[in-house]
Amino acid sequence: MGIQISPSILSADFANLEAEAKRIPGADWLHVDVMDNHFVPNLTIGVPVLEALAKVAPQPIDAHLMIEDPDRWAPAFIEAGATSVTFHIEAAKAPVRLAREIRAKKARAAMALKPATPIEPYEDLLPELDMVLIMTVEPGFGGQKFLDVCLAKIRRTRKLLDKTSGDIWLQVDGGVSLETIDRCAEAGADVFVAGSAVFGADVPDEMVAELRTRAQQHSCLG
Ligand code: DX5
Ligand code: ZN
Repeated sequence: MGIQISPSILSADFANLEAEAKRIPGADWLHVDVMDNHFVPNLTIGVPVLEALAKVAPQPIDAHLMIEDPDRWAPAFIEAGATSVTFHIEAAKAPVRLAREIRAKKARAAMALKPATPIEPYEDLLPELDMVLIMTVEPGFGGQKFLDVCLAKIRRTRKLLDKTSGDIWLQVDGGVSLETIDRCAEAGADVFVAGSAVFGADVPDEMVAELRTRAQQHSCLG
């Protein structure tokens, strides 16, 4: 697929989500951060808002579930219109069953890891997935500083994905900006979430293009 940019609406104007989505026609995805105030210490949006947004957004919806019991709730987000659903491995009760259920409902299945969660125990799960998300901040809030301690894990994950059959994408999320995207691309990421960098820019769609160019210049992928 090449380099993809998935702006996070967490840093957009929540009173004008349709207009905000339409400010970034060049984005490949719209990243929607779902937080439940249990898995993370913050509360954002749930199924009804995602459903409304999916009807009007020009981009497919990339739902990042930062919630307890994603096994129970993921199907509702697909029915609401999410094209990709990411669950946290720290919260999933039966990740293989969950990934298979997401795929059976015709969405892309993705597994997220918090900064201190290693990838190695989950190597055998990779064929069940369409994407792995390596968090580069502690999940919960936008605008945090990029944790470069996560770069080694991005590199190790890229190696594991390269020896796994199938086209599994490697997403990074947290503190991704023009200052940090080059290191993520060099380490092997190919899908980049950016919230404050995109929606804090004067012209968000221009920032999407700049991030894409920077990532393409530094990508270690062919
Ligand atoms: C954080 C969320 C991110 C957040 C990223 O828990 O998962 O998607 O919106 O925001 P920035 O790009 O500002 O770090
Ligand atoms: Zn996110």
